[in-house]
Amino acid sequence: MIGRMRDVIVAANWKMHTTPADAGDLARTIGARTRVPGVVRVICPPFVCLAAVRDALAEDDPGVGVGAQNVHHELQGAYTGEVSAPMLAGLATWVIVGHSERRRDAGETDEIIARKLTRAFDAGLRPILCVGEQLAEREAGDQEDVVDRQLRGALAGHPSDVVRSTGLVIAYEPVWAIGTGRNASGRDAAAMTDAIRASLEGVGHSQADADATPVLYGGSVTSANIGEFLAEPSIDGALVGGASLKPDEMAGIVARAGVTAAARGMVERSAAERGAGE
Ligand code: PGA
Repeated sequence: MIGRMRDVIVAANWKMHTTPADAGDLARTIGARTRVPGVVRVICPPFVCLAAVRDALAEDDPGVGVGAQNVHHELQGAYTGEVSAPMLAGLATWVIVGHSERRRDAGETDEIIARKLTRAFDAGLRPILCVGEQLAEREAGDQEDVVDRQLRGALAGHPSDVVRSTGLVIAYEPVWAIGTGRNASGRDAAAMTDAIRASLEGVGHSQADADATPVLYGGSVTSANIGEFLAEPSIDGALVGGASLKPDEMAGIVARAGVTAAARGMVERSAAERGAGE
């Protein structure tokens, strides 16, 4: 049986970089240098830069998605400094949930992350759910158990039809590879994406849904190593941090993703969809 095709996605996580004064120009430059058929592009700037990035892309590159890097798990209330899902309406259509830097620095638990997913689903934001093990956990051979626990916790109580309809994306990001210049091997990352899809079935998703869920790799991705990940049929793109601030790097990463998109038949599909919509 041929399953539903998965998007090939390159998502930029700008973390705590850029300002409202310069984010629009950077987004425009990256947009212009990454117009590659069949690749879904997303830029996730800091909250305060969302409007600038949205406006810059709306003019030149409406095809680039705009994402937030986080969302609060409550709808509103006395949460100083936080941003809720309804506040993101009109600013973002994607959201990163459960990034390891937030698990580390903001004490986000799987239970909180599950509630953030609820907010994202309810607001129609497409979530990129991050999972991944610490170095000690990998050295102990526990990486699949850790990621399984994270997925079970985050997806607890979310019906599979809701998850499917919002197009959940999962990013496998081994914590030891983030911002360290020490990326996982393509083969290890592919083994983890297989484990992630098995976990999705373990939490009650059908095999077809698990197969249709895009899984990205993240952790020191560059234009030089992206090919190693995209050569793996189970990996559908990348969540890129440091390199995503560099237009040359993004151009190289998305160009390579375009090769994969073409090989997987995504280019014909997006052309056909465009034709059907005209
Ligand atoms: P990195 O970050 O590419 O700088 O390692 C990836 C991420 O944190 O999403």
